[in-house]
Amino acid sequence: MSPNDSYSVKAHAKFDGIYTITVDGNDFLGTKNLVPGTDVYGERLFKVGPNEYREWNPNRSKMCAYLRKSGKEYYYKEGMSILYLGAANGTTVSHLSDIVGKTGRIYAVEFSARSLRELVQRLSSRENIIPMLADATKPAQYRSLIPEQVDLIYQDVAQPEQSKLLVDNIQTFLKPGGAFYIAIKSRSIDVTVEPEVIFQKERAIIEKAGCNVIDMRDIAPFSEDHVVIAGKIA
Ligand SMILES: C[S@@+](CC[C@H](N)C(=O)[O-])C[C@H]1O[C@@H](n2cnc3c(N)ncnc32)[C@H](O)[C@@H]1O
Repeated sequence: MSPNDSYSVKAHAKFDGIYTITVDGNDFLGTKNLVPGTDVYGERLFKVGPNEYREWNPNRSKMCAYLRKSGKEYYYKEGMSILYLGAANGTTVSHLSDIVGKTGRIYAVEFSARSLRELVQRLSSRENIIPMLADATKPAQYRSLIPEQVDLIYQDVAQPEQSKLLVDNIQTFLKPGGAFYIAIKSRSIDVTVEPEVIFQKERAIIEKAGCNVIDMRDIAPFSEDHVVIAGKIA
């Protein structure tokens, strides 16, 4: 949007690296664009002095939906390393790339060659993203490509064994004291069972593996039949 439109941008009161963009009295979340002048998925751009901000759409990103639904756990920091499972074509990855900045790294795992190709096309100017064509159910396959224990794992894969997959990756890649988020879609697990029953079962799998679940939040109406779980390991 041009500076003549009526908007303002200010740093979010609680979340480092997130901004509140107010347009005609309505608030939106945004991140500071690492590649000014370029949008990733058609989101609005807002210029303020030398900086540019990208609107973060909660209907396109479950992480943003979690924050919009007053998710209380926020673990992102500039410079951190993230293992992202289910990167798709890079919508949420792009905002996390803004937040971790040039000193951070995002290992973006996706098993659809077509989605990953699109991610690479959209995000090639972002040097903090390392795209990987791999199956997140087999962490041993990409172990040698990730030369560190990461600070955070983000998972959004929409497939039957979502929590087991998270636990396997936590055990392989997450550093002690590290954090995780997982978006769970009940319909990807079993359409015949009440979503709440599925969410509790998945939560139990994560807790049984010794991970501390701190927040579990329904993210409707942005994504129906989904929760985002946030937590840490010892
Ligand atoms: C709901 S989409 C992810 C959207 C993305 N997280 C975002 O917010 O921009 C789920 C993605 O997980 C990928 N996926 C599913 N199973 C996977 C697996 N075992 N390994 C890697 N990617 C997987 C799918 O191909 C799909 O692109």
